[in-house]
Amino acid sequence: KKLFLIDVDCGVDDAQALMMALAAPEVEILGITCCFGNTTIEHVCRNVLRVLHVCNRMEIPVYRGVSHSLLGEINPEFAHFGGDGLGDAGDPNSPGLEHLQQEDAVHAMIRIINQYQDQVSLIALGPLTNVALAIKLDPSIPKKLHKLYIMGGNLEGRGNRTVCAEFNFCLDPEAAYIVMNEFTCPTYIATLDFSRANSLTMEYFKDWVNQDTAKAKFMKTITARWPQKDSFVSYDSYAVAAAIDESIITESLECAVSVELQGHYTRGMMVLDSDEKLKKNHKVTLMKKANLEKFKQRLWSALA
Ligand code: BDR
Ligand code: CA
Repeated sequence: KKLFLIDVDCGVDDAQALMMALAAPEVEILGITCCFGNTTIEHVCRNVLRVLHVCNRMEIPVYRGVSHSLLGEINPEFAHFGGDGLGDAGDPNSPGLEHLQQEDAVHAMIRIINQYQDQVSLIALGPLTNVALAIKLDPSIPKKLHKLYIMGGNLEGRGNRTVCAEFNFCLDPEAAYIVMNEFTCPTYIATLDFSRANSLTMEYFKDWVNQDTAKAKFMKTITARWPQKDSFVSYDSYAVAAAIDESIITESLECAVSVELQGHYTRGMMVLDSDEKLKKNHKVTLMKKANLEKFKQRLWSALA
């Protein structure tokens, strides 16, 4: 089986991505680590437990991680997926926080990666704070990971959180910088541009959530206030899909990347070193095109 460790800031698309991983028969999830981001760390933990509960997978350990960026900032006003991160739909049956592990996310990450050296892949779907802290505590982590998959950053300086920065990188630019500059294992990035360019139709979305299953009903409930747009972008699901099946990515670009830490407009923006001026040894794989038929099948089975 493919061994995954998944780090989330569980909003709606993190939930979709998690459900895709949970539905993949070839995957074993060793743990889910929580990070602040789409909502507070407490809501993130609750949301992950809710997803596991709906999927009958409460045996998977969940770890509470950081509540702020490395510089201590939080994201108080952002509520794209509602204040609680899952559409403010409420859930009287959601499992309580006593189901969390005692160990914190960062130490769990270090322990699991050491235990399953060269076998476990890390999929990071939120701000990179937990991941950056793990590598600072144990610098051998990048060498021991099988592969690292990230949803974050952007290719052309067009952001969603700010003018120029993508949400996950923007919420903790220093953490993103550390990960982009200190990780040496094979790294695959699903950027904002990539997920938008490979979006699905609203027709697919409607059929998807209208399946007659408990998981689909859950998804329909948490997306009821989804702002109606012309397309459906499940940002985090692309990173998970690529980790499950590499052949879902049909076009990519190898490039060294970094992160802008200073700019008034550009702080948190991904920087591409296309002409190798930074003389970095490590290049990442930036996803460009996905096989949408395969992607849709994986997403479909998440709610089936
Ligand atoms: C990213 O930001 C978050 O809101 C989503 O969960 C996704 O990880 C997209 O920029
Ligand atoms: Ca996310």
